Amino acid sequence: MSACNNKESAEKIRQEILAKVKEYYQLTHANKSFIPGQSKISYAGRVYDDQEMSAMVNSVLDFWLTLGKEDQQFTKDFSQFTGLKKTLLVNSGSSANLIAITALKSPLLENRLLDGDEIITPAVTFPTTLAPIIQNNLIPVLVDCDEGTYNLRVSELQKAYSAKTRGVFVPHTLGNPADIAAIYDFAQERGLYLIEDCCDALGAEFNGQKAGTFGDIATFSFYPAHHITMGEGGATATDNTTLYRAMLSLRDWGRDCFCPWDQNDAMGACGRRFDWKIEGLSEGYDHRYIYSHIGYNLKPLDIQAAMAIQQLKKLPDFIRRRNQNFNQLYQGLSGYQDFLALPTTYSKAAPAWFAFPIMVKPQAAFSRHDLVRFLEERQIQTRRLFAGNILKQPGYKNIRCRVIGDLAVTNQVMERVFFVGVYPGLNNQMIDYMLAQFGEFIKRG
Ligand SMILES: Cc1ncc(COP(=O)(O)O)c(C=O)c1O
Repeated sequence: MSACNNKESAEKIRQEILAKVKEYYQLTHANKSFIPGQSKISYAGRVYDDQEMSAMVNSVLDFWLTLGKEDQQFTKDFSQFTGLKKTLLVNSGSSANLIAITALKSPLLENRLLDGDEIITPAVTFPTTLAPIIQNNLIPVLVDCDEGTYNLRVSELQKAYSAKTRGVFVPHTLGNPADIAAIYDFAQERGLYLIEDCCDALGAEFNGQKAGTFGDIATFSFYPAHHITMGEGGATATDNTTLYRAMLSLRDWGRDCFCPWDQNDAMGACGRRFDWKIEGLSEGYDHRYIYSHIGYNLKPLDIQAAMAIQQLKKLPDFIRRRNQNFNQLYQGLSGYQDFLALPTTYSKAAPAWFAFPIMVKPQAAFSRHDLVRFLEERQIQTRRLFAGNILKQPGYKNIRCRVIGDLAVTNQVMERVFFVGVYPGLNNQMIDYMLAQFGEFIKRG
């Protein structure tokens, strides 16, 4: 058989396999029925069809495995979506946060951070938003949040500011944008770095501008709970090519070389692979083996990127459905505001809701515990607003930090807030069921 015939046969088999994947999807994954009271109403989950499964199988058949053409396509598409020039794929949102903060200490920067410099960030947070600040020998300065949005309270920024302040790290809590234009102005006026944790907020906007495009670096998570998924995964995005180079190096073992996956010619992407003169290294030392950062290996697989390409195409519809579910819940719960504080937004914010946060008011005759237990027994999943006041968490009790004020709202969040889902896997019938359960609980008194 000629090579040409082999190629044709292989392509035919590939198409047959992909057709079978589609058939398999229809038989096993599609059309899951909802039985009220029995089916779990998850707070989040992966939403997919045969396109994601086919894209992954297709990539497996290539057997390239490590980041390659799928990554190249995804990062291009993602940059087009965010409007930020450079996207770097990593294996989680936590890794994205880690390299974003670590990059601020890169020797490539003229104005890099030094040990002991301060970063302002909210005390109500996700653990791996705070962790990289500590891991980099920087000092977190923890501030309170606003009730209703649970986002960094802008009026705390000036109180938190000191001669040591070098940056602000701000999450957009649960897909609801922080007051980011004001935070941006504060950072700009003082020459601070601004990093946006958009892990829960892909596609959210403030004043018509995408969350993540205000700061120096944006971070994203593609864990199944988030707006799009690739299993485990995440990304950083930036317009700053120096920060991009630093993050690329940190992701890829700390190496200096920035050759793309398909650049295998002898001289490399820099055109001077054996021509670098670096103090302490012999002349012509192979650039592929020069390490300019103390790095990690935080790369995902190309197979995952293949899935993410398909997910990204669905993102606008996912966001629409998330917001629709949010609105349906909001309407249904608005009669209970004597007991339940519903979420609020800043006037210019256009959220891409990750979830629906609820605060049980102090005057309610029931506790959060009572309500959450009732809902869980009725198969409605609930979650806490991440770490609550992270300073109360065992791993964070004794961290070196500065705390601004009494964190009164943050402490309320820890004791009174929970959230339920709005993800696109929920339909009208499920939201109606959720609302009926809230109604029954409140009626019971
Ligand atoms: C605000 C925020 N930041 C960071 C992360 C970490 O992302 P990952 O789970 O992909 O590590 C999460 C996870 O849900 C998050 O909610």
